[in-house]
Amino acid sequence: MAGFTKYNHFLPSKVRDRALENRLTVFTGPLEWRTTGKELTMKFGYFDDQSREYVITQPDTPLPWINYLGCEAYFGIISNTAGGYSFYRDARLRRLTRYRYNNVPFDFGGRYIYLRDQESGKFWSPSWQPTRHELTNYSCRHGMGYTSIGSTANGIEAETRYFVPLGENLEIWQLTVTNRRDTPAKINAFSSIEFCLWDAQDDATNFQRNFNTGQVEVEDGVIYHKTEYRERRNHFAYFACSEKLAGFETQRESFLGRYRSWDSPAAVEAGQLGNSIAHGWSPMGAHQVNIELEPGETKQIVFLLGYHENPVAEKFDPPGSQIINKKTVKPVIAKYLDAKNADAAFDELRQYWQSLLGIFQVNSPDAHTNRMVNIWNAYQCMATFNMSRSASFYESGIGRGLGFRDSNQDLLGFVHMAPARARERILDLAATQLPTGGAYHQYQPLTKRGNNDIGGGFNDDPHWHIIGVSAYLKETGDWSILHEPVQYDNEPGSEQPLYEHLQRSFNYTLSRLGPHGLPLIGRADWNDCLNLNCFSDTPGQSFQTTTNKEGKVAESVFIAGLFVHSGRELAAIASRCGLTEEAEKYLTESAKMESVILEHGWDGAWFLRAYNDFGGKIGSKECEEGKIFIESNGYCTLAGIGLDDGKAASALAAVNEQLATKHGIVVQQPAFTHYYIEMGEISSYPPGYKENAGIFCHVNPWIMIGETRIGHGDLAHDYYSRINPSAREEISDLHRCEPYVYAQMIAGKDAPDFGEAKNSWLTGTAAWNYYAIVQWILGIRTTLDGLQINPVVPKNWPGFTATRLYRGVTYNITIERQGEGNAIALTVDGKLIEGNVVTPPTDGSKEVTVKGILS
Ligand code: BGC
Ligand code: NOJ
Repeated sequence: MAGFTKYNHFLPSKVRDRALENRLTVFTGPLEWRTTGKELTMKFGYFDDQSREYVITQPDTPLPWINYLGCEAYFGIISNTAGGYSFYRDARLRRLTRYRYNNVPFDFGGRYIYLRDQESGKFWSPSWQPTRHELTNYSCRHGMGYTSIGSTANGIEAETRYFVPLGENLEIWQLTVTNRRDTPAKINAFSSIEFCLWDAQDDATNFQRNFNTGQVEVEDGVIYHKTEYRERRNHFAYFACSEKLAGFETQRESFLGRYRSWDSPAAVEAGQLGNSIAHGWSPMGAHQVNIELEPGETKQIVFLLGYHENPVAEKFDPPGSQIINKKTVKPVIAKYLDAKNADAAFDELRQYWQSLLGIFQVNSPDAHTNRMVNIWNAYQCMATFNMSRSASFYESGIGRGLGFRDSNQDLLGFVHMAPARARERILDLAATQLPTGGAYHQYQPLTKRGNNDIGGGFNDDPHWHIIGVSAYLKETGDWSILHEPVQYDNEPGSEQPLYEHLQRSFNYTLSRLGPHGLPLIGRADWNDCLNLNCFSDTPGQSFQTTTNKEGKVAESVFIAGLFVHSGRELAAIASRCGLTEEAEKYLTESAKMESVILEHGWDGAWFLRAYNDFGGKIGSKECEEGKIFIESNGYCTLAGIGLDDGKAASALAAVNEQLATKHGIVVQQPAFTHYYIEMGEISSYPPGYKENAGIFCHVNPWIMIGETRIGHGDLAHDYYSRINPSAREEISDLHRCEPYVYAQMIAGKDAPDFGEAKNSWLTGTAAWNYYAIVQWILGIRTTLDGLQINPVVPKNWPGFTATRLYRGVTYNITIERQGEGNAIALTVDGKLIEGNVVTPPTDGSKEVTVKGILS
């Protein structure tokens, strides 16, 4: 790895090498991989499945490759070069550390450590950024809830392990420094972070005020950040160090020096921090520890960055002063500054993930499937559950709250790991539901209230709630949730049982049908960018929030498919509750909608997408652009529409012919080449990007599930593999996003950079792919009655094994292929059963052996 810093990091490595060979200093031509379509193979690390880690061995990854710290309330984002930021619960309103948006480089601002050799004066960052010195043995290990970054430079090995202990609102950095020289070493070690003045949006814009408000306290070497604590905030941040300090800084300018940046802080260069106290400007935290190491000797320094809240009446100590009351936080700080306790907390975190991931494990013939299902996809599901779409390197954390649609779908991939948290989320979501059955599109996690700025009117939203609750019931069998009293729109006094919320969700659509009897689309449906009532002609106007037409004409075939599906789910729930008549009603309405789809939503060979405000078809052979869309074809076939008369098979074949590419299935074809005012945002994107014919990974699983419903295990798994990030690791130079998590979008075939991923991490792709592979391809599916075993796997798989902890019972499952089909014969503890649903053991046993023969 030595020497990589000489290269131009932006270029893919082979192009880079070529440029060097040819002594080109400026690369002007089109990049080779863009023009020939031949991907260059290049990896930046490897999977260590044993340790459940991805190990990055080259710091200049194509984009920052990040991880999340924290699983509960305190969170951090950390890149492979220690960039990123931290927050408590709400990424906008309780931001601890500063991040500069759309910065260059992308991930600048972070949890930076500097080391300095006292004799030579040389200094560097073991995480490469921000100083970017040449390092040997650089490695970044992203694991389950932690990241360790280390390297060797100037004979000094250093590694920092970052994580958030379970149940605490703080992050631990454990820095281990080892002298690999054969002479003693005198090293200055520095930590550094820049505080954000809490509201990240205000922090980035309101300088006339904010340059005056910054305040800190330093006591016993602990730096307390207390901006606005003197008035309406009861919370503060602290940054502590386990060792005796040789100095500290709390004012950024004193640390960096004038006109300098984080790559060469003046105080680090000088080897001495100046003990500055911030008044206004930019409060920061930096510690200095001087260490002496014999050859081979190792020392560990622990740093803590944390968040603490005091009761209003006990903010100050002594009362009446302006000094933070530190009584309750000091013991916490003392506890984790002790490396023994930090290690114990780390072990606890490892065990926590071990048990979460242990709930479902598979051993199939495909390593990429195993790795994603057993480790990374499940892990990503936790991140999407926690963050929804709020904070990543593509979601600013200041824009979006928790999405109603998104959070409901996220339950599909998460509910088995933490059902109690899923339950709480379901009730929170329901409490933001409007009395009409409609929904705010988003709510704020801190207040748990619907977000008025974004509003509602996305007519698919209510149905996702039924699907989320159904997933919860199938997993847990906890019928009590349906009786929970829940408010509408957080209005006290409006409480009704959760079950009624589901009824209203369903009925919402019944009172919003259009001219063909299909559901009116409202502001948009799953495709936020199909804005058929928007007619926006004003630059910069938000497609998401601008006033729409009443919209009594534009209809969505996708919502129709969703309605059929949610109606059947709700019917099953109602009939389990003994509400037979109601169940009948849902089934009748679903069947009615199914025939409307077959009559008005069928285009001859595939499902139409929608009708526009003029009653014209969208997603039809009659259209010039946008003849066929993935969503309606995916959701209708997933819902089982057209299974009997070949329409599902025909639609899926059309998708295969017209939408499937080697990098995944695009949203629609042909891409829109210009802006259509009657379509809205979808046509605002250049062809091949995002909703305009990009590969929206979130919807690909709908097609995979559709394929399993018509018995096509080979194709279903093939589609799965095309977007599986692990299977794309070899083409990281093209894919560019992390090879261990899904990205929302991969550029489609109309884009110049076909195959390049964007918006990694926070996407419904995580839950849907997990659900599709586990429940439909591997076919280990939760139902209201028990665990259904119905694999639709590739023909050349001799079988697979899996274990599933389900409602307190461990199912050890072995599937063996004896023929090429998908028919299954099941034995449970040696006894042949009828059908394919394994009901819970009646004899109280906690372990069950299931054997399935596919023929
Ligand atoms: C994006 C969508 C997103 C929406 C809501 C649009 O610009 O293309 O993917 O869901 O914004 O924020
Ligand atoms: C991203 C949003 O979070 C999701 O809800 C939506 O369905 C897709 N974009 C497609 O527009």
